[in-house]
Amino acid sequence: MTARLVVLASGNGSNLQAIIDACAATIDTVHQLDAQVVGVVSDKHEAFALHRAQCHNVETAVVGAKPHETRQQYDARLAQITGAWQPHIIVLAGFMRVLSNSFLSQFPKQVINIHPALPGQLPGTHAIERAFTEFTQGTRRETGVMVHFVPDEGIDNGPVIASQVVPIHVADTLSSLEVRVHATEHALIIDALQQLITQQKAPAS
Ligand code: GAR
Repeated sequence: MTARLVVLASGNGSNLQAIIDACAATIDTVHQLDAQVVGVVSDKHEAFALHRAQCHNVETAVVGAKPHETRQQYDARLAQITGAWQPHIIVLAGFMRVLSNSFLSQFPKQVINIHPALPGQLPGTHAIERAFTEFTQGTRRETGVMVHFVPDEGIDNGPVIASQVVPIHVADTLSSLEVRVHATEHALIIDALQQLITQQKAPAS
């Protein structure tokens, strides 16, 4: 059965694009990723991720925060809209809100997050920039990328599905490092999804 994916994204959507491309790509008539992106949700109506989805005829929804709405109320609305697509896996690909249990409890072991740093390092925003600054200060030699489950409200923290080191070179600029980290995450998210989809297909022993 083809896995149904819903992607949550707040911005550019380059990871969404990598997922859409892998779903469409075939190697010897076998799909690179036996999955379909059935919906994309953003909290920002201007997110380029929405445009990318629409270009591939993927349904989209914008769930903007309402004034005076609590996080729990927002997350309950988000869960309802996401759940309507009946996803097997929900990918947080640059979704810049911390999800509460009112969302996560609806999708146990189904929510995964991409973060541009190694496990346990640099949680939160601007992780690549912070890694580069630490490198220039002599306190860091490398950074990386991880894909992990989101079991609770912890920020960029949870059981790791896949991770990969990204070296930082003396000749790097922030921009060259960003290019390398993003290329690494575009490959790693596909590896992680392949792992999960294979596991979901395996008969329970
Ligand atoms: C990616 O680098 C992703 O790892 C990061 O946001 C970017 C989204 O890029 N996520 C986090 O920093 C989560 N804390 P994209 O919109 O081009 O996929």
